[in-house]
Amino acid sequence: MSQPIVFEFTHLMNRFSDVQLHTLFKKREVAKQTLKQKRQNKELGFLDLPYQTNFLDLKKSAQKIKNSCETLLVIGIGGSSLGAKAALQALGTSSKTQIIFLENPNPATLEHTLKNIDLKKTALNVISKSGKTLETLSLFFILFEKLRKAIPEKELKNRVWITTEEAPTQLKENFLYQIAQEYSLPVLPIAQNVPGRYSVLSAVGLLPLLVAGINIEEILSGAQTIDQNSRDTYLYGTLAYGTHQLLKKPLTVFFPYDERLSLLSDWFCQLWAESLAKSESSGPTPLKAIGALDQHSLLQLFLQGPQDKWYTLLTLEDYQSSLSIPQTKLLKEFSYLANMPLEKVLQAEQKATEASLIQFENPVCRLTLPSLSAYSLGALFYHFELATAVAGYLYEINPFDQPAVEQGKLLTRKLLKGESLDF
Ligand code: PA5
Repeated sequence: MSQPIVFEFTHLMNRFSDVQLHTLFKKREVAKQTLKQKRQNKELGFLDLPYQTNFLDLKKSAQKIKNSCETLLVIGIGGSSLGAKAALQALGTSSKTQIIFLENPNPATLEHTLKNIDLKKTALNVISKSGKTLETLSLFFILFEKLRKAIPEKELKNRVWITTEEAPTQLKENFLYQIAQEYSLPVLPIAQNVPGRYSVLSAVGLLPLLVAGINIEEILSGAQTIDQNSRDTYLYGTLAYGTHQLLKKPLTVFFPYDERLSLLSDWFCQLWAESLAKSESSGPTPLKAIGALDQHSLLQLFLQGPQDKWYTLLTLEDYQSSLSIPQTKLLKEFSYLANMPLEKVLQAEQKATEASLIQFENPVCRLTLPSLSAYSLGALFYHFELATAVAGYLYEINPFDQPAVEQGKLLTRKLLKGESLDF
């Protein structure tokens, strides 16, 4: 198999002195050992997800949904929705079953969705590792009750799939698991050692992907390739850390030249932010920009604004299109565009932005995909997950928890129970 991602780090590395690089590489070795040890101890289950082989339940469930339902409602938030959403946007769907993600407990959005679907022909996949996320449960309670009224009770087990933690440690607190048991609903397990935002390659992402007709074996094969050739991913995580800590660039801009990767950028931002921001000095802020669109929006800020950012540009070698600009009398002073493949225009925009960023002395690296495929997307997921873990160990923090977010959840629950917030 060809390389799913080609990494270009020359300009980024040139920003560091030899002494700095030496220090970074020494630290990287320590992070590598930590990761290796934790992986051996089965603490980092997400690293082994590309090697899963038993998809029978998932495939049967997906087939059942595709055969009998017009709509699949995927209910989840954060790590339980962003990855699958990103994959569907990047790769499209070949399924007749439309897939709608419900994340925010926004009544207007839910009303709109309900008006446009036939509940009698709808399946639910509710996803929550903890089984107690308020936003997800609020939506699920409404939809489950509506579904119960719309279809015979005995059909529920063919319409509702619950993706949650396998054999939950805190069974009492995992309401979804309890509901699954009460109504004999099928459970798609998330292993305990797979944290939410690192779970796209588990049942969390794979069921929606299968319903969309996406080749999950290709996705996992791309992830395996990165795992087996992880040098550049370790380098990326290390340089990201160094760019923040040594070059004093606290903002990370992910800048793909393809709007089909806009939701992947959201997924990346969540992964980077929630994993790495654990103290005043360990929070590199992720930002999203889409080329060429944001050349007309954010680029001025990037070039002449505060020099506090570094950039990961992403481009495709082949956009798999034969569209060209015709030779037409409309062209006039644009005659150099005659017969120009449209992808060449976008690629030139990317190169020009990269050159401008470098001229303005910004740290820049580039990722090139041969094309946007399941294979390269799987590689991107795994690359960013592993790089985030590497950076986390370099910051010497836990990149897998989110203690501060838990506080907000606690306060929301207090408010909804009618208790007051003391602050
Ligand atoms: O990465 C994480 O752990 C979070 O973003 C979770 O995915 C998010 O809070 C949803 O949690 P849950 O899957 O438990 O509903």
